Amino acid sequence: MKKIMCLVFIVMVVVIIAACGKSSTEYIDETGTTPQAFVFNNVTGAAVNTVITSNYITVTGITNTSTPISIDKGSYEIDDNGFTSIAGTISNGQTVRLRHTSSSTNSTTVTQTLTIGTVSGTFSSTTVAGTSTETGEQLFNSACSSCHTASSLAGTTLAEIDSNTMQKGLTTAQLQLIVNYLATVQ
Ligand code: HEC
Repeated sequence: MKKIMCLVFIVMVVVIIAACGKSSTEYIDETGTTPQAFVFNNVTGAAVNTVITSNYITVTGITNTSTPISIDKGSYEIDDNGFTSIAGTISNGQTVRLRHTSSSTNSTTVTQTLTIGTVSGTFSSTTVAGTSTETGEQLFNSACSSCHTASSLAGTTLAEIDSNTMQKGLTTAQLQLIVNYLATVQ
């Protein structure tokens, strides 16, 4: 009899441990708010200060029909129902796309982060590199004339500027304008 009682006790303990272990792992799944990772296609070469809209992603892997959704900047849209920046809820199979205004500065990235349940993803745009409206002479006067006269550098080539590390933070296109200008001076 004692043996049977002991066996019953052991079985009960095993069952309790198994049940506890199971319920604690199930608890995580039961929230149902962990979607599959989602990827937005980042945009490069974007025009400055322009509204940029992402591709659509379809939310998969969540069972909770009230999974929280929020955005840190810009706005998001569920199922083409209008863009909003206010946090809301989403359910499996719905689509999402994002929108933000690109930077007003050239070569600058704006990144927005969307969070659905326990998973976050980003969408970014990077604006085009600036095209200078300054002439070679203006660029020379602002970047070089404090140390050189134009005539002392007459006929200077891009290679000479590079080999003397005289780029002074200018782009190759801007340096080319200076070279063009220096080709015209005596
Ligand atoms: C802060 C001063 C300064 C500025 C600004 C500057 N340079 Fe120079 N540069 C020098 C000095 C000093 C040398 C001589 C370096 C040496 O020989 O070690 C030099 C050398 C050069 C040379 C080699 C030929 C020579 O005359 O010795 C070129 C070409 C040149 N600079 C182009 C430029 C251009 C183009 C700019 C503008 C984008 C510029 N530099 C801006 C100080 C300057």
